[in-house]
Amino acid sequence: MKTESQEKISKILENYSYKPEKLIPILQKVQDEYNYLPKDVMDFIAYKLNIPSARVFGVATFFAHFAITPKGKYIIKVCDGTACHVKKSEAIINKIKEKLNLTNSNTSEDGLFTLECVSCLGACGLAPVVVIGGDVHAQVTTQQISDLIDGIKNEAKK
Ligand code: FES
Repeated sequence: MKTESQEKISKILENYSYKPEKLIPILQKVQDEYNYLPKDVMDFIAYKLNIPSARVFGVATFFAHFAITPKGKYIIKVCDGTACHVKKSEAIINKIKEKLNLTNSNTSEDGLFTLECVSCLGACGLAPVVVIGGDVHAQVTTQQISDLIDGIKNEAKK
């Protein structure tokens, strides 16, 4: 692991006074930095907190919020709660999978997109709802999701 990374993580650990009981917020901060929790980073955290690596890994894999594999630059969250499901969110999910060729992984091969299916986002009146990079898209159709992905891809090429 690079010295620069070690310094960054040490600073986060310092902010939590190297307390093992603060492991969850520490992992949250670290994930904010890396977009996921790399193995060597988890080992470093365990070493610095003087706890077994297995404990860090256990927490990282227990909570769905944490990712131990790299995520795409753009997270596409598709709501599949009841209201969105009734309004055909499944067709949107299938369209995204087809368009991004997601078969074995939820992250596209180019590392640009990660698909996440989530339960109710609290905006049922706007169903089906898709959130991409923090932007909420309401009453999304398969054509719109296709266009949104194309737009992001084109933007990323620039
Ligand atoms: S079910 Fe999708 S926002 Fe509520």
